[in-house]
Amino acid sequence: MKVLQVTGNQKLTGSIRISGAKNSAVALIPATLLSTGTTTICNIPDILDIDVLEKTLEYLNVDVKRASGSILIDTTNLENKPIPEELSNKLRASYYFMAVLLARFKHVEMYFPGGCQIGSRPIDQTLKAFRLLGAKITEDGCLFKMEADELKGAHIPLDMPSVGATVNAILVGVLAKGETVITNAAREPEITDLIDMLTKMGAKIEGAGTTTITIEGVESLSGTNHDIIPDRIEAGTYTIIGALLGNYLKIDNIIPEHIKALTDKLQEMGANLEIHSDYLIIDSQNKLKATDIETHEYPGFATDLQQPFTTLLTQAKGLSHLSENIYENRFMNVPYLNKMGASIHEDGKIIEISGPTKLKGKTVKATDLRAGASLLVASLIADGESEIQNIEHLLRGYEEIVEKLTNVGAKIEIKEI
Ligand code: EPU
Repeated sequence: MKVLQVTGNQKLTGSIRISGAKNSAVALIPATLLSTGTTTICNIPDILDIDVLEKTLEYLNVDVKRASGSILIDTTNLENKPIPEELSNKLRASYYFMAVLLARFKHVEMYFPGGCQIGSRPIDQTLKAFRLLGAKITEDGCLFKMEADELKGAHIPLDMPSVGATVNAILVGVLAKGETVITNAAREPEITDLIDMLTKMGAKIEGAGTTTITIEGVESLSGTNHDIIPDRIEAGTYTIIGALLGNYLKIDNIIPEHIKALTDKLQEMGANLEIHSDYLIIDSQNKLKATDIETHEYPGFATDLQQPFTTLLTQAKGLSHLSENIYENRFMNVPYLNKMGASIHEDGKIIEISGPTKLKGKTVKATDLRAGASLLVASLIADGESEIQNIEHLLRGYEEIVEKLTNVGAKIEIKEI
């Protein structure tokens, strides 16, 4: 078993460069299959989720070449085959293959997608979008079979601004006949990144970054070159770490607008933060004030930063409250934080954090990706040694996390035990 061993309380100084966005990459890679050509994507993070997508592409007979930070995808020999459950259940984004294979071949079979266990994660909005675009869907346990005589543009009113359903509706809509209008669409920057790449491939899409996306279907798409945007959740996680341990710590290669909900909150709490056009500098501040947070869809406070932010709140003076509005079970880090010395009380979708509390190094478990990030932040500020188990979750989402933190002064290493 691989574990992360961390010796806490080291000041961090220097620069951390943010990688390409995981949640862009996992949509952009399947999207390349909409074209009948070769696409090169740069700033691909070297994380486990991308390894799974690469295996899935190879399974579909797609030619893939991965070099440091880039992936070249040649779809000439693409085959439409049911993706085995052991690949599709590794990550949520696997169902983007469902959309592209449906768009290209008018039929597809695929298993329910995986992803972090953070409460029920239904896909009803994606199924609704596919049905409105003309697919007939049958469900056989976890296996979905979809067929369409023709995919036709439609009005898709989403019941909630789901990221996955917005991406899936776009992926099918770009090759469907006529106009597709997605209303109540998600506005996350990763969706805008996807629309940018699809537009370069020849798609006709308007409304990126707004709640109404209008697509005029085209006959075919061609390959292109694309650079992924920086990962706002990775940027946010290191900014939180900087607020606790930074000594003129530079978080480089960011789009400040994408993490504004976080930096606004940090400034309100009294953090020492200088924001520049594509980087920020942060110093630790031991007089942070308690605050209240509610997670919301973009541009609100990101649910993916909620768990690392909880660790920060254990160091703020006073009572903080945090409401999780996106997922039903995203507090699995809390018992471990309490084991380390935090004082957090959970009540349904709200937690109350009383701070500041001194944290002590302990053995803890990453139950999911961002819970892992929360426990990593806790281990970095704790007295003594911590061991984080199940770190595969963490490695799914943060490129070179050990190297990046070691380079700025953290004492952290992966051990096989
Ligand atoms: N929902 C439904 N029905 C649907 C779709 C969503 O009820 O058909 C509800 C569920 O409660 C679901 C929630 O809405 O859990 C959020 O779903 P959404 O579709 O917006 O999220 P997602 O596409 O499954 C992406 C990211 C998540 C991130 C969310 C919210 C990817 C691969 N994943 O998930 O990232 O939390 O958007 O911003 O893009 C992570 O990186 O740690 C992560 C979980």
